[in-house]
Amino acid sequence: MSATAGENRKKIGEVFLSAKDLTREFGSGKNKTMAVDKVSFAFRRGEIISIVGESGSGKTTLAKMVLGLLNPSAGEIFFEGKPRDISSQSKRRLYWQNIQAIFQDPFSTYNIFNKVDEVLMDCIRLQGGGDLSKEEKFERMKDACKFVNLKFEELSNKYPFELSGGQMQRLMIARIFMLKPKLLIADEPTSMIDACSRATILDMLLKLRDEVDMTIVFITHDIGLAYYISDTVYIMEHGIIVEQGTADQAILHPKSDYTKRLLGDVPKIYEPWDLSSA
Ligand SMILES: Nc1ncnc2c1ncn2[C@@H]1O[C@H](COP(=O)(O)OP(=O)(O)OP(=O)(O)O)[C@@H](O)[C@H]1O
Ligand SMILES: [Mg+2]
Repeated sequence: MSATAGENRKKIGEVFLSAKDLTREFGSGKNKTMAVDKVSFAFRRGEIISIVGESGSGKTTLAKMVLGLLNPSAGEIFFEGKPRDISSQSKRRLYWQNIQAIFQDPFSTYNIFNKVDEVLMDCIRLQGGGDLSKEEKFERMKDACKFVNLKFEELSNKYPFELSGGQMQRLMIARIFMLKPKLLIADEPTSMIDACSRATILDMLLKLRDEVDMTIVFITHDIGLAYYISDTVYIMEHGIIVEQGTADQAILHPKSDYTKRLLGDVPKIYEPWDLSSA
């Protein structure tokens, strides 16, 4: 991978989603797990944020609270400067208009009985384009496929299970391109695909941010991927943010032992290779 976080970074806007002491526990007494423990963050428009941590560190629990799929035990989320209010179904729907998510297993996201055309047509409807002419609808679907280097003609009439894992994830990104949410949460979106497709997906996320000015929260075990894609990195251990800063600060100059240990597990991504002693 040639680019670095520094090269990827572009102008980042104001804070639009933040949290203060966000906490979620599961169980009680001896069986209590602090899945997320007093986490605070501030995400800006057009920023790519990675949340990095080992399995069980609380990344998905944090994402679910941000998505409004799980209630916090304590703490607060602020959206566009105000306390987030999703107390009724209509308020929740309004909030969800701003947010989309991509999960690890692309197959779980689709209704397998809906052909690709229908998946994309749904996005047009959600965007209020139900009344567009047939030609305009096709143009929009073709554009979205072009954005992710897929040919609409090759995909239309296919069922999701007839696509490869990489194609499925690209179709997911085509959907996001059509829906243009303000915030995208991508929870391990590349862990089920090969390294080559993985790099393509990361580059498409960067393109989404650049062209649509989206804020992207990228959740991963892989500190190398986080360095490649992020402006800002949060490192999580046992529900706690143990390190945060720009990709350069958090990964090239880590303060916490945990980050140093995570870095020790991957080949050095930032030092030139020294082959003189080999
Ligand atoms: N619904 C639940 N009920 C009870 N415990 C849960 C629940 N969801 C998560 N946990 C616990 O909370 C902790 C954090 O889980 P979480 O899924 O957020 O981790 P993660 O960082 O996303 O892990 P992974 O990298 O494996 O996806 C774990 O100890 C998990 O067992
Ligand atoms: Mg998870």
